[in-house]
Amino acid sequence: MTQITTGRVDRKVVLISGAASGMGAAHAWALVREGGSVMVADIQVDAGRRLVAEINAESGREGAAFVALDVTDFGGWEVAVAETVRCFGRLDALVNNAGIGSRGSAADADLDDWDRVISVNLTGTFYGMKAAIPELGKHPTSSIVNVSSIAGLVGFKQRAGYSASKWGVQGLTKTSAMDLGPQGIRVNSIHPGSVNTPLTAHLTRGFGQVPLDRAADAEEVSPLVVYLVSDESRYVSGTAIAIDGGETAGNNLRPIN
Ligand SMILES: NC(=O)c1ccc[n+]([C@@H]2O[C@H](COP(=O)([O-])OP(=O)(O)OC[C@H]3O[C@@H](n4cnc5c(N)ncnc54)[C@H](O)[C@@H]3O)[C@@H](O)[C@H]2O)c1
Repeated sequence: MTQITTGRVDRKVVLISGAASGMGAAHAWALVREGGSVMVADIQVDAGRRLVAEINAESGREGAAFVALDVTDFGGWEVAVAETVRCFGRLDALVNNAGIGSRGSAADADLDDWDRVISVNLTGTFYGMKAAIPELGKHPTSSIVNVSSIAGLVGFKQRAGYSASKWGVQGLTKTSAMDLGPQGIRVNSIHPGSVNTPLTAHLTRGFGQVPLDRAADAEEVSPLVVYLVSDESRYVSGTAIAIDGGETAGNNLRPIN
């Protein structure tokens, strides 16, 4: 079936890391439905290829392609950027979405887990930006969307490494907005709260702290990514946008009496 698009990202070419599942996959669907082309990059090769086949079948065009990528490998990022330009002719936006969780406080977190979460979530984001900037700088309205978390806006109990990595993403984003603005590259971070994805499927969570009283579906985050990739946000840079059902607005659990 041919999908009708509204063309909010017509002709935009977007590279998304960690796009084989969860929110990244939802962003890939949304961007292609809005007229863009998407390079799905992930360590999950089979799932990534399957997603690309489904998107292309539904959209009736070759709007998606796949490249294998481990975000902790800078050489892999260079290949992913080159592959995107080879397939689609240019690169307009990068969505640094790949991420993993970690457990433990500063007292009990495992040293290897700390290194791993910083490497994937923070260093992976830096590598992606560094590899993409030469191509992004060729166009006046380029955009980088870094996926942080509410754990990068407030403290997060028992998630020392994860929270540190996501705060690092926010700092890298704000600094890069200042550095890259003159090249026409906007850089923003988004901070989802509780979202139903494979990453969180094993967690038992209550939503009393969320004013909207529920988790989000991945598709509810994608419109924000579409907005930040599109030229609708052409004056938006260096900002950290929460998309969390109000979770970080205040203390929702404080008794009223
Ligand atoms: N789900 C939530 O509640 C939530 C909340 C806030 C932020 N986030 C963030 O959103 C992003 C997407 O998470 P999700 O919930 O969709 O999780 P997910 O596990 O469904 O997706 C993460 C994707 O990243 C890929 N990935 C992992 N390590 C990689 C690596 N080294 N190289 C390349 N790809 C790799 C995985 O294969 C997977 O496809 C992450 O950065 C996560 O930290 C998630």
